[in-house]
Amino acid sequence: MNARLAARLGAAVLCVALRPALAAPDADMVRLAQSEGCFACHAIDRKKVGPAYAAVAQRYAHDPHAAAILQDAILNGHQGTWGVIPMPAYAPDGDLNAQQALDLARWILSLKPAR
Ligand code: HEC
Repeated sequence: MNARLAARLGAAVLCVALRPALAAPDADMVRLAQSEGCFACHAIDRKKVGPAYAAVAQRYAHDPHAAAILQDAILNGHQGTWGVIPMPAYAPDGDLNAQQALDLARWILSLKPAR
């Protein structure tokens, strides 16, 4: 086996190993989303009241402004992208600050479905 093939095989093994990333996302973000009630309307891999987070990640995968767009949706609410049901605003009445909303947005964007 030459070195290049070995490297490729290694990468393939790594991909398989990283796949459960969907099932085991960043624990702090999961805790925050749980404490904010996000999972009442969202799941990572299937649609509930709101879109699956993996579907959100996929939709914005090539949008350079994605983190800011999602941060704004989380802070100020949003309607119309995924259907008629609105996403509630978490600021100013909610207890999420701008940094937490950005962290959540980045976490959601990291949840790209495995291909
Ligand atoms: C009451 C139900 C509900 C709750 C609670 C909720 N969402 Fe949503 N969310 C929605 C719906 C419905 C949409 C689709 C809105 C649309 O079509 O634009 C959505 C959309 C989104 C989007 C995509 C926005 C876009 O512009 O595409 C993100 C990101 C999101 N929610 C994150 C969160 C986070 C993080 C929380 C918790 C802090 C949360 N949601 C709590 C219902 C909810």
